[in-house]
Amino acid sequence: SAAEKGGYDYFMLKEIAEQPKAVADTLLGRIDAAGSLTLDEVRIGAAELREVDKVVIVACGTAFHAGLIAKYAIEHWTRIPCEVELASEFRYRDPILDRQTLVVAISQSGETMDTLMALRHAREQGARVLAICNTNGSTIPRESDAVLYTHAGPEVAVASTKAFLTQLVACYLVALYLGQVRGTKWGDEIRDVVRELSRISREVERVLETMEPVRELARSLADKDTVLFLGRHVGYPVALEGALKLKELAYMHAEGFAAGELKHGPIALIEEDMPVVVVAPSPRGRSVLHDKIVSNIQEIRARGARTIVVAEEGDEAVVPYADHLIRIPVTPTLLQPLVSTVPLQVFACELATARGNEVDQPRNLAKSVTVE
Ligand code: AGP
Repeated sequence: SAAEKGGYDYFMLKEIAEQPKAVADTLLGRIDAAGSLTLDEVRIGAAELREVDKVVIVACGTAFHAGLIAKYAIEHWTRIPCEVELASEFRYRDPILDRQTLVVAISQSGETMDTLMALRHAREQGARVLAICNTNGSTIPRESDAVLYTHAGPEVAVASTKAFLTQLVACYLVALYLGQVRGTKWGDEIRDVVRELSRISREVERVLETMEPVRELARSLADKDTVLFLGRHVGYPVALEGALKLKELAYMHAEGFAAGELKHGPIALIEEDMPVVVVAPSPRGRSVLHDKIVSNIQEIRARGARTIVVAEEGDEAVVPYADHLIRIPVTPTLLQPLVSTVPLQVFACELATARGNEVDQPRNLAKSVTVE
């Protein structure tokens, strides 16, 4: 009913709008006044966590994209090697696991069969399993050694939005916690990031306040056949997520690529006026990456692409090559997906509406996939 949707036309719109609160709720009570992480729920003891020599993340769909982003954070802040794998592939390839492996299973519903089978297999091999889950008491957390709940609240729309943002928050918390427990040379950086994380909900809100041009742009592209998404570093999984949202909602051909892969094949796809969304990394710090994305944007534009660039406020270098510019707030590099994903959700939702699609219940899809 309209009341359940809180005055929004679709659950998805309501859930997109709820993201600042969902992010804040997921952080609540997990960072103390001194800026230390207090994750008592992670019942795996400090001694055991210090012995972990590999993290393996398993998940499906959007949750898998959260895992891809987590890898950058975990490896950077903890120096523990981290693999991310689609749960459906992991289970059937005889993965190497033992008691020093920490398996992180990410799932909104907690009922996804592929993810459940992957974690059962991991536990049989002696690995510890930590679930990141949004649904209290569901099967995946029940069968795990520990669970870090995301507090997104119920997500009704089939397309995951607020659950994804809170999965990211939970992943950052796990990465930072592992860094804290094990001690790392990034102590100062970790303190800064924790501080930024506490402020990030406000930044997500600011992004939501500036989405009208994105909706307008989406409507203008309703008759297109293909949209490509490019990113580098954590922007690459964001590109994959932007493409997944567009497939499931707008039923358009959408693909995400690592921008560095362009000349290894995908650039052949570019045609006159084809929309290409580029997620630009921050121009600060890792400026090498930023220079590279600027040349990628130039390359595709020279071949006729209509460039839609998601870039930080103050990033002037992309301006000459952006047919459309979507501004996001300045954030630490690893946290950028919390703000850069939001415009892509809004974009997909609006495009779906413009094409007359059922936003909350896309064809052929179920909210929770309980078969393998
Ligand atoms: C996301 O928009 C999808 N509908 C889908 O990819 C989903 O993320 C996937 O099925 C995993 O679900 P889960 O998080 O409940 O395990």
